[in-house]
Amino acid sequence: MCDIVLTPMQASKSLFIAMKILLSLTPLILFQFFSLVQGLNPKCDVQDDHGSSLQVFHVLSPCSPFKPSNPLSWEDSVLHLQAKDQVRLQSLASLVDDRSIVPTAPGRKIIHSPTYMVRAKIGNPAQTLLMAIDNSNDASWIPCTGCEGCSSTLFVPHKSPTFKNISCYAAECKQIPNPTCGDSGCAFNLTYGNSSIEADLVQDTITLASDPLPDYTFACITKTNGTSTPPQGLLGLGRGPLSLLSQTQNLYKFTFSYCLPNIKSLNFSGSLTLGPSALPKDIKFTPLLKNPRRSSLYYVNLFAIRVGNITVDIPPPALAFNRTTGAGTIFDSGTVYTRLAEPVYDAVRDEFRRQVGAKDIVTSRGGFDTCYTVPIVAPTITFLFEGMNVTLPHDNALIHNDDGSITCLAMASWAPDNVNSVLNVIANLQQQNYRVLYDVPNSRIGISPELCS
Ligand SMILES: *[C@@H]1O[C@H](CO)[C@@H](O)[C@H](O)[C@H]1NC(C)=O
Ligand SMILES: *[C@@H]1O[C@H](CO)[C@@H](O)[C@H](O)[C@H]1NC(C)=O
Ligand SMILES: *[C@@H]1O[C@H](CO)[C@@H](O)[C@H](O)[C@H]1NC(C)=O
Ligand SMILES: *[C@@H]1O[C@H](CO)[C@@H](O)[C@H](O)[C@H]1NC(C)=O
Ligand SMILES: *[C@@H]1O[C@H](CO)[C@@H](O)[C@H](O)[C@H]1NC(C)=O
Ligand SMILES: *[C@@H]1O[C@H](CO)[C@@H](O)[C@H](O)[C@H]1NC(C)=O
Ligand SMILES: *[C@@H]1O[C@H](CO)[C@@H](O)[C@H](O)[C@H]1NC(C)=O
Ligand SMILES: *[C@@H]1O[C@H](CO)[C@@H](O)[C@H](O)[C@H]1NC(C)=O
Repeated sequence: MCDIVLTPMQASKSLFIAMKILLSLTPLILFQFFSLVQGLNPKCDVQDDHGSSLQVFHVLSPCSPFKPSNPLSWEDSVLHLQAKDQVRLQSLASLVDDRSIVPTAPGRKIIHSPTYMVRAKIGNPAQTLLMAIDNSNDASWIPCTGCEGCSSTLFVPHKSPTFKNISCYAAECKQIPNPTCGDSGCAFNLTYGNSSIEADLVQDTITLASDPLPDYTFACITKTNGTSTPPQGLLGLGRGPLSLLSQTQNLYKFTFSYCLPNIKSLNFSGSLTLGPSALPKDIKFTPLLKNPRRSSLYYVNLFAIRVGNITVDIPPPALAFNRTTGAGTIFDSGTVYTRLAEPVYDAVRDEFRRQVGAKDIVTSRGGFDTCYTVPIVAPTITFLFEGMNVTLPHDNALIHNDDGSITCLAMASWAPDNVNSVLNVIANLQQQNYRVLYDVPNSRIGISPELCS
């Protein structure tokens, strides 16, 4: 009855075209190494970061230096994004398999392929890098001078008098598992997707929008291989001790929000806002949960899903939050398509298909199993979170191929290797054009419609 919906006018504008562009542009390898100068497209470099708010843009947007040069077919593009999601999901799921219950930190298996970036200024004088944002990752890492296997855009520590190495005996060094003592002090190895990364733990000022954050602790990458390392580094917005939020508690009060734009938003209307700010009038909240088995992640209680006006029949354990197993539902900024545990997805899909009518269904198009080659009247999908119902605009639930002749339900099921660690992931396509607020002190996640694309 108090469902959050975008008005049809807000909703219809953006995603259809965006997905068409996205799908025709997706590269084979997102984070390949480029020899070009890796700044923003000059047309886009309007420097509109202000206060504590940063412009957010898609890694494949027209402004991005990482957008692909060789378009793929629609089907290959979708398959590629799904493959990347799969690597990320397995990483998210595997967090639970670790023996000790400590937050995700460098040195542990962490997450793959974030899709949104912000402009960060490192050191004094500032050196600007386009860093990926990842709310499921704690540490920040930046490629540094001399890095073997990094792209050409690097942070040059010796040009910044405020740069510091961190000693092996410093408190910060104890926050990472398995540190070793290298030439410059605290060092460690980490895995990210299929990349192995070697890094030194260091400190320098990082400036985000107008806020200088002195002595910010991050990892200076000295060596990497594989294709998963974001070329200009990553800003970790997770919940662990080395995350951006933990390091800036006095300033940002462990509170941030974002509106993720779609790929075509040349004007960067997406934003990442750090710290508390005025709440949108129509914001709705659901409790934010912390799961000790995956303590870096932002869990919520998703207890039912509605398709049209039918609440689908889902076996309760498939949605249950469980502190022992780590099971539950998270908001993740890095996965592209929402992934639901098999019994959850199957129930949603079956009801969706039933309401559309079973005719002209195309199975497994681009890896999605519910696609239509005729125009359809699709039922809405509503996530029932504790205290808040979110009805997805069609553009956040469906994708279309280049010429609009195929429509697919843009979600999928998955089964983690460890069947006891069921994880439902609300992904970034489903979050587009919403303001998503992470309010850790008040243990709540807020959502309100915002057309930021
Ligand atoms: C969500 O929708 C259900 C019906 O599907 C309704 O009973 C419930 O009151 C709604 N919750 C909120 C918070 O609006
Ligand atoms: C790394 O993973 C990506 C998909 O995420 C894949 O395209 C690429 O081939 C992999 N590279 C290697 C060297 O395994
Ligand atoms: C950090 O360590 C490196 C490697 O030992 C050294 O070259 C550099 O001068 C050190 N930087 C500072 C600021 O101490
Ligand atoms: C990281 O791994 C490399 C190669 O396996 C190894 O030589 C190095 O000692 C490791 N460094 C740390 C800090 O563990
Ligand atoms: C990267 O290096 C590590 C160890 O040095 C190796 O195990 C891994 O297979 C390499 N990855 C790729 C994609 O080459
Ligand atoms: C960007 O903004 C300008 C003016 O503010 C507008 O005319 C233009 O259509 C916008 N471009 C996109 C791609 O939104
Ligand atoms: C559910 O929707 C269908 C068609 O949209 C309608 O006929 C039916 O009356 C609705 N049921 C309820 C309980 O609102
Ligand atoms: C959590 O999962 C364990 C193992 O499957 C189960 O024994 C326990 O009852 C579950 N707890 C809750 C609260 O559902």
